[in-house]
Amino acid sequence: MSGTPDKYARQALDRLDILQSHLTNVPAPAGRLTKLSRSLQGKKAIVTGAASGMGRETAKILADEGVQVAVLDLTDAGVTVVVDEINKVHPGRAQGWTCDVADRQRIKAVCKEVIESFGGQLDILINNAGISLGGGAFDDDESFETRWDKTVAVNLNALVIFIRACVPAMLKSEAARIVNIASTEHFVTGPANAAYSATKSAVTGLTRSMAVELGKYQNITVNTVCPGPIITGMTARIPPELKESYAKRRVPMRRYADPEEVAQVTVSICLPASSYLHGATIPVDGGMTIRHT
Ligand SMILES: NC(=O)c1ccc[n+]([C@@H]2O[C@H](COP(=O)([O-])OP(=O)(O)OC[C@H]3O[C@@H](n4cnc5c(N)ncnc54)[C@H](O)[C@@H]3O)[C@@H](O)[C@H]2O)c1
Repeated sequence: MSGTPDKYARQALDRLDILQSHLTNVPAPAGRLTKLSRSLQGKKAIVTGAASGMGRETAKILADEGVQVAVLDLTDAGVTVVVDEINKVHPGRAQGWTCDVADRQRIKAVCKEVIESFGGQLDILINNAGISLGGGAFDDDESFETRWDKTVAVNLNALVIFIRACVPAMLKSEAARIVNIASTEHFVTGPANAAYSATKSAVTGLTRSMAVELGKYQNITVNTVCPGPIITGMTARIPPELKESYAKRRVPMRRYADPEEVAQVTVSICLPASSYLHGATIPVDGGMTIRHT
């Protein structure tokens, strides 16, 4: 805009003055041109379901970026493999806890132990553990209800129990980040997967609700990542030819992803610089959910 702003532009600029963010008067650190950090060095994180697939890759990337990582999963053997893998390259950067996320009391106890071991600091929570049990909605009562209850416990209830247990410590962080892993099953779905689809859609609702409720603290963001078809333990039983035909038919990029490709997005959301992304539902799916035909 050149010359003197007219009356209406002036009013708009006045409104902008009022709305200036808390960053407006913060200078860039010495030697840098911008204000927000892209470093995760020294942060502390919890990753659930970290023994396999996307959780494992997320834990590894966080460790590569200088984050102290609590690796949580079902079995001691699974946890130990990942802790050793990380500590071999970054000595002391990972610690492991067995935690069945369907067990609320265990979640609360583990979160307390992890936060104590981190000296009271917790910056990042990755709610990643999940299951897909399949089965038809009209199977016999016992099998349907057992699968439904288990799926709701692991894919939905656990996430809110973790958030409730972690937020008090995370409020002390300068840039706290919660990432909930849902699925493209939030947007689209197939047959015989009611519990999975229902819980993954519910995760995006939980994220939005938490984002509104926690927004007033200004230091903490909550977002959902929705992976498309990814090569992990969860999809290991799908034969390669079925994976290929599905990807060619449904995914514009015509392939499944490596779990690291999702984990890199998850970690990007955790940067201090990702400070205004809040309550978002982010597909990481090779374009699957935007394809019309
Ligand atoms: N693979 C895909 O195509 C895909 C697509 C969309 C979303 N997802 C979601 O991504 C997340 C990660 O899954 P993945 O694909 O890496 O699968 P994965 O099976 O490789 O890893 C899931 C991990 O969660 C752990 N887990 C399962 N139940 C648990 C419990 N009760 N307590 C603690 N840990 C438990 C497993 O032991 C495993 O290590 C899940 O939430 C899944 O629903 C996966």
